[in-house]
Amino acid sequence: MKVLVATEKPFAKKAVDGIREIVEGADHQLALLEKYTDKAQLLEAVADADALIVRSDKVTAEVIDAAKVLKIVVRAGAGYDNVDLAAATARGIVVMNTPGQNSNAVAELALAMMIFMSRNRFTPGTGSELLGKTLGIHAYGHVGRLVGCKGKALGMEVVAYDPFITDPAVFEADGVRKVDSVEELYKCSDFLSLHIPATAETKGSIGYDLVMSMPKGATLVNTARKEVIDEEGLMRALTEREDLKYITDIAAGIQPELDEKFGKRVFATPKKMGAETAEANINAGLAAARQVIDYLTTGNTRFQVNK
Ligand code: 3PG
Repeated sequence: MKVLVATEKPFAKKAVDGIREIVEGADHQLALLEKYTDKAQLLEAVADADALIVRSDKVTAEVIDAAKVLKIVVRAGAGYDNVDLAAATARGIVVMNTPGQNSNAVAELALAMMIFMSRNRFTPGTGSELLGKTLGIHAYGHVGRLVGCKGKALGMEVVAYDPFITDPAVFEADGVRKVDSVEELYKCSDFLSLHIPATAETKGSIGYDLVMSMPKGATLVNTARKEVIDEEGLMRALTEREDLKYITDIAAGIQPELDEKFGKRVFATPKKMGAETAEANINAGLAAARQVIDYLTTGNTRFQVNK
């Protein structure tokens, strides 16, 4: 069977070599479509693919429609908002992610972003330290938890909110203070690290009121998704509060305007780089390949997200 790896942002070579070994070792054929610039290239490559491995590549209804024999899509990574689940489900195509596999890379970037902003973006001038500051974690999944642990190692007081984790023991085990509302979280966070997925409920949910409620000098750190931000609300808050900062790994739709208006108080990486480490590529890429082969061989649907 044909396993297509379609990555507009390619995996490290070592990860591709590992994926090839797994796929060909199971007597399947590997096809690579890297750095493609046109949707038409993906539509053509996917036409006879039995399995598809992607990163943030958009697997739209059009792509699913073009994929005549597709059985499984694995998003090598956590967030699967780039895959049209309804279209896949309607065709009986299994969709999976690889939870946890690239989390450490994202967590390290979140902490690096905090240091970068508190040290004036590595430009001359007196900055501040993370030690003793309160770090708020919005959503305590794989990445959020790692950010919390690393923040604690740096001497931060870690506070977390997760609407889906009600058991206080989860937080207690990590020495993290659990709060019961999103409002409470933002109010006490000198640094707020976002780890919510982009869903119908979360899109545009972080806006003026929450940002305005943050303590003096606070920094909002976004390594999650740009869609969760209400960009106009954020802009209004940054306008009214000259002490607030925003750093993101996923440029806002209005990023040029934010950059122009707020200068050094905002920063966006040129291209999403949270999971851009060799280690994360290898972990997520190889896990995706294993999950594909396992599904094609045994029907294992452990990581299926469209059950
Ligand atoms: C994820 O959801 O796993 C991250 O956002 C990484 O995305 P990427 O594979 O496009 O770097």
